[in-house]
Amino acid sequence: MASNRGLLGVVVGETKPHRFRFLASRAVSMGEYVTVESPEGRLLGLAEDTATRSVLLDKISNFESAIEAKRVATKNVRDKSYLASVKVVGTLDGLRGGQVTLPSLPPEPGSEVFEAGSDEISGVFDRMERRWAQVGGLLRNPEVRVSVDIDKVASRHLAILSVTGGGKSNLLALMTKKVAELGGTMVVFDYHGEYSGLSIPRAVHADAKINPRYVNSDQLADLMEVRENAEVQRTVLLKAFTDDVKTAKEFWKSLLASIATVGENEKDSRKAATRLQDIVKVAMRRMKTVIDPDVGEVLDQLKASKVNILNMLEFTERQANAAISYYLAEILEDRKRAMHGAEEQRVRFTAPIICAIEEAHAFIPSEGDADTKYIASKVAREGRKFGMALVVVSQRPRRVDQDVLSQMGSFAIMKLTNPEDQAHIREASEAISEDLLQNLPSLNVGEAVLLGEWVNIPAVVKIDHVAEKKTGADISATSLWAAEGKMSQVAVESTKSSMVLE
Ligand SMILES: Nc1ncnc2c1ncn2[C@@H]1O[C@H](COP(=O)(O)OP(=O)(O)OP(=O)(O)O)[C@@H](O)[C@H]1O
Ligand SMILES: [Mg+2]
Repeated sequence: MASNRGLLGVVVGETKPHRFRFLASRAVSMGEYVTVESPEGRLLGLAEDTATRSVLLDKISNFESAIEAKRVATKNVRDKSYLASVKVVGTLDGLRGGQVTLPSLPPEPGSEVFEAGSDEISGVFDRMERRWAQVGGLLRNPEVRVSVDIDKVASRHLAILSVTGGGKSNLLALMTKKVAELGGTMVVFDYHGEYSGLSIPRAVHADAKINPRYVNSDQLADLMEVRENAEVQRTVLLKAFTDDVKTAKEFWKSLLASIATVGENEKDSRKAATRLQDIVKVAMRRMKTVIDPDVGEVLDQLKASKVNILNMLEFTERQANAAISYYLAEILEDRKRAMHGAEEQRVRFTAPIICAIEEAHAFIPSEGDADTKYIASKVAREGRKFGMALVVVSQRPRRVDQDVLSQMGSFAIMKLTNPEDQAHIREASEAISEDLLQNLPSLNVGEAVLLGEWVNIPAVVKIDHVAEKKTGADISATSLWAAEGKMSQVAVESTKSSMVLE
């Protein structure tokens, strides 16, 4: 039997094997873990929703009565009621042994509910096996460390979702470190150049590049920012972008010549060809770092058994889209060869690989067809068989393709305020309950609900802070202005003094 230590409340109302409510002796927070006796042994439960009520203050309609009722209510210990709604996550004994066993019988109304003690549950959230990596502590009991199963991330995908500034990139940064410690292979498409300053053991930092020889004419048009509706220009490019151009030693020169030829041969295309030549010249000059015909095979930039940070800071959204889709397609092909190819075929990644996509709402949008969306859906559906996983990160979950989201085996959901975002996630995953969704707006930065296959049971966690990750923090305009003001003051003073000297 449990001791009276930490007696928190008593089960009331109708109970279900997977859910019950209890009246507590104090206000309860969402995210607290409790234990309760049941016919099948002690159960562990998570408080998903809580409420505090005062009988006296419930039906007051004017200020004077409210003041009076408050006075009486303060004196009356029976006035307040603290109700919590609990999701049963499994039998405590089973969970301690790493097994999730759900009871078939509900706890009896009247059963005593206890705070789950740190010593009782630390083994439930923090597993020792190599594949588990610590990412934080329980939000309501920080001394209980929480680890996640990296094997499940690498096979069943992960979505990290929250409002902007919720702490997504911090969690991804933390995961890159954990994967690096395990000697794993990971690629982060670093669209905002956020991960360059991280100290990740043995990480490879590379500038993402696109070799125009390997893209199709429409993709090349996108990369060079030929307008979508400039149909004649696009047709000229289609005709000019021949196999000879693709294999030419001097790619750009050959492309320009080929465009000129098309222009000369077709009177109607002459103007468009001239304009296209200008665009190509600008692209050659301005996009050298992004579009590079001499880069060789882009996968050569990536290394197995390392975390690869692909800097995309200089990419426009369209370019990033083309680049990410290209890298993903190449990696998928490589993994297919690794799993099923003939032995003599060259394979880069002999072991599973995790690819992380930030700004997923832009690259895997629910509406419209982006290059990345096509290949990401494929990876989401088939990646498991080939040891290729996605980590999808977004601050606008409602704009992320539902098919891709619903393939995500695990979720880290942080603060989310938009009901449409919440509904979208609810549709994508069974793992999250309505009660938890309702409580997502109350989470603070770095606080997350971890759900799905990478945790044995839902964990409400404060994610560890990656201190050296500086970018991503809000910029304080006022303090930077103040600092700049001081600097310019110094400049004025020094001009004055030099004038005096003169
Ligand atoms: N677990 C945490 N503990 C403490 N601070 C955190 C934590 N997670 C994030 N932060 C801080 O909050 C700020 C925003 O974090 P982060 O960049 O990870 O948010 P984000 O969700 O990726 O935002 P965006 O949607 O704009 O990309 C940063 O200053 C970061 O240091
Ligand atoms: Mg971010």
